[in-house]
Amino acid sequence: MKKILFISSSLRPKSNSEFLAREAAKGAEEAGYSVEFVTLRDKTVGFCRGCLACQKTLSCVIKDDANEIAEKVRDADTLVFVTPIYYYELSGQLKTMLDRCNPLYPQEYRFRDVYLMTTSAEDGEEVYETAANGLKGWIACFPKSRFAGVFSGGGINMEDIAKDERFRKAREDARQFGKNL
Ligand SMILES: Cc1cc2nc3c(=O)[nH]c(=O)nc-3n(C[C@H](O)[C@H](O)[C@H](O)COP(=O)(O)O)c2cc1C
Repeated sequence: MKKILFISSSLRPKSNSEFLAREAAKGAEEAGYSVEFVTLRDKTVGFCRGCLACQKTLSCVIKDDANEIAEKVRDADTLVFVTPIYYYELSGQLKTMLDRCNPLYPQEYRFRDVYLMTTSAEDGEEVYETAANGLKGWIACFPKSRFAGVFSGGGINMEDIAKDERFRKAREDARQFGKNL
């Protein structure tokens, strides 16, 4: 069965991006995939120190939650990285997690399709383009994988869910996105 890993990076308790990602995860489960959902909110993920010890030892000198998450990344078929847009970029939390996947660089890895889910105050392709390019840089270093697409929720706020038609539509779209992973 296809294993799909979601990594959600917003630290906000009422996170727009995590809400939509959980909808997508439900959709993926409905489609019969094996789904795992990791949020960085309750995790400790330190900055990569650039020592490159991991390229020989295949493990990181920093002992925190990133190591187990990186192993989950290695062993999933499909990855969905979830981020709020911060200054037209990936969140720092997600970028830090991608850097901490450096022990995977010399290893065999299973993942092939890699998706990005974003939310942002503004709507439009240009809002998430730079973030998507950032993720594409990471994917380029794992050449058996490919950038498979973006789900973006622009101009929505889950605080308004009861009255916001756009959010309801985004929720349905996210569910469908998950079914099609
Ligand atoms: C530091 C910071 C930078 C942001 N930069 C942008 C931005 O460049 N463009 C944008 O449309 N929204 C920006 N936003 C708004 C968030 O992307 C938006 O509220 C998003 O839905 C938050 O997702 P979350 O609830 O999952 O954290 C920014 C928010 C923060 C806190």
